Amino acid sequence: MIRRLDASDLAAFKHLRLMSLELEPENYASTHAEWAAMSDHEWRHYLTGEPIFAAFEEEKPVALAGVIHQKRDRMAHRASVAMVFVVPERRGSGLADKMMDRVVGYARGCGLVQLELTVQAGNARAVRFYERLGFQRYGLLPRGFREPGGYVDDLLMVLALD
Ligand SMILES: CC(C)(COP(=O)(O)OP(=O)(O)OC[C@H]1O[C@@H](n2cnc3c(N)ncnc32)[C@H](O)[C@@H]1OP(=O)(O)O)[C@@H](O)C(=O)NCCC(=O)NCCS
Repeated sequence: MIRRLDASDLAAFKHLRLMSLELEPENYASTHAEWAAMSDHEWRHYLTGEPIFAAFEEEKPVALAGVIHQKRDRMAHRASVAMVFVVPERRGSGLADKMMDRVVGYARGCGLVQLELTVQAGNARAVRFYERLGFQRYGLLPRGFREPGGYVDDLLMVLALD
């Protein structure tokens, strides 16, 4: 079951988000330390703001994805996909496709015409996954992330919905 989370889903959201940041620190702009330091009030603030979706299997949370709408009138046809994560044991199962179907369905339902995302250029699995879904590369941002050993580039991708 994939559904949009609300304030009552604090435990599931925390579980998935912290797991993603702990297991894949190189793949997200946020750090585990930043999110682990947040109060429950701050976590709930996320759940009552922009849409966040999670997949549950036998009530266990197994995948996460969020959408961040552009706010300005002339950019309101666009949104970004963020926080994409599937627990390791469910990767390669088709669950990630179902999550993104849900996100794309939500976006189309809102009348959005474009979904965008940023992915670490070296994250070959995620890049391949997004390309399979139809996302196209439109740029490379040098030094997108700062890592202990230096900088890594961000790949910029876009999916037209119209
Ligand atoms: C990104 C993610 C959601 C994709 O879900 P998934 O279930 O792993 O995706 P799939 O298995 O359906 O697709 C992955 C594709 O990459 C391919 N792949 C796997 N490992 C690869 C590698 N090292 N290099 C290149 N391609 C690879 C797979 O073969 C598959 O392509 P195919 O369908 O053409 O065979 C999941 O891997 C994940 O949670 N990763 C960690 C967090 C992350 O990186 N999130 C994205 C942040 S932008």
